[in-house]
Amino acid sequence: MTIPEAGKGRRPVGGAAGSGNPAEECRLDVSVAHVARVYNYWLGGKDNFAADRIAGDNTISVYPGIRLSARANRAFLARTVRYLTESEGIRQFLDIGTGLPTANNTHEVAQAVAPDSRIVYVDNDPLVLAHARALLTSSEQGATAYLDADLRDTGRILEQAAGTLDFGRPVAIMLIAILHYIPDTAQATLIVADLLDAVPRGSFLVISHAGSDLFPEEIAAFEKSLNEHLPGERHVARRRADVARFFDGTDLLEPGVVRVSEWRPASAQEADVHTTLWGGVGRKKHG
Ligand SMILES: C[S@@+](CC[C@H](N)C(=O)[O-])C[C@H]1O[C@@H](n2cnc3c(N)ncnc32)[C@H](O)[C@@H]1O
Repeated sequence: MTIPEAGKGRRPVGGAAGSGNPAEECRLDVSVAHVARVYNYWLGGKDNFAADRIAGDNTISVYPGIRLSARANRAFLARTVRYLTESEGIRQFLDIGTGLPTANNTHEVAQAVAPDSRIVYVDNDPLVLAHARALLTSSEQGATAYLDADLRDTGRILEQAAGTLDFGRPVAIMLIAILHYIPDTAQATLIVADLLDAVPRGSFLVISHAGSDLFPEEIAAFEKSLNEHLPGERHVARRRADVARFFDGTDLLEPGVVRVSEWRPASAQEADVHTTLWGGVGRKKHG
């Protein structure tokens, strides 16, 4: 599928599955779990199927903290987008691994601060594609677009995102809870480098990533259970130092790579929320 035209105003934009396109709909196999739908289940959402709920319940049984951790991750996403829009003047976001629409989607947070913000969402789950209309409700002044693509296909993502984003101006690249589904670290590093290469100095990189050195026993059990249920994907948690290396070529903003709930929390209570994800924000230095 090609990227739909940028959504303007509150009009839905065509091209989503569920709109009668058989090629898109046949990719939706509900008999096996998929990470977007399992994540939706952890968050208490309703956009999931029996296989996703079985995977969700099994992972919760070995690591009950996953639900709080997923919520802390969403809060991190909202805080970083708000910060970048409010304090760094960012008006363009490339959000890869969007997930199913929920509260505080990137365009809602950014456009609440700056209605002229432009957002390109990217995900490879057909159900996210089916729900893309909810992500394409842009303000009149801004724009949103959705691209059905794999993170590994950076060339295509960048080419098609250029229909909505101006790569001559700073862009925030959002890789929120997605890089741990790229098991090969060398490949993940190249993906991040390709994306950073395409944006000018002053752009930002935002990452959250499962930490193998945060509650190691629980995470190992969780990862084993999740991987048993996700036939098409593999979850690989990484150590904080490995996550920090993805930020090469950027200046890490304070407080660096920390538990996501500790990244500029709004309150002591928010900072305390249990999480197994590392997160950080870097500003591109050169280019
Ligand atoms: C754990 S969810 C995170 C959703 C959202 N970023 C958040 O943090 O709330 C991971 C998302 O990444 C997507 N994803 C995983 N691997 C991907 C890939 N290789 N290319 C594109 N999307 C991918 C999944 O479909 C899912 O929607």
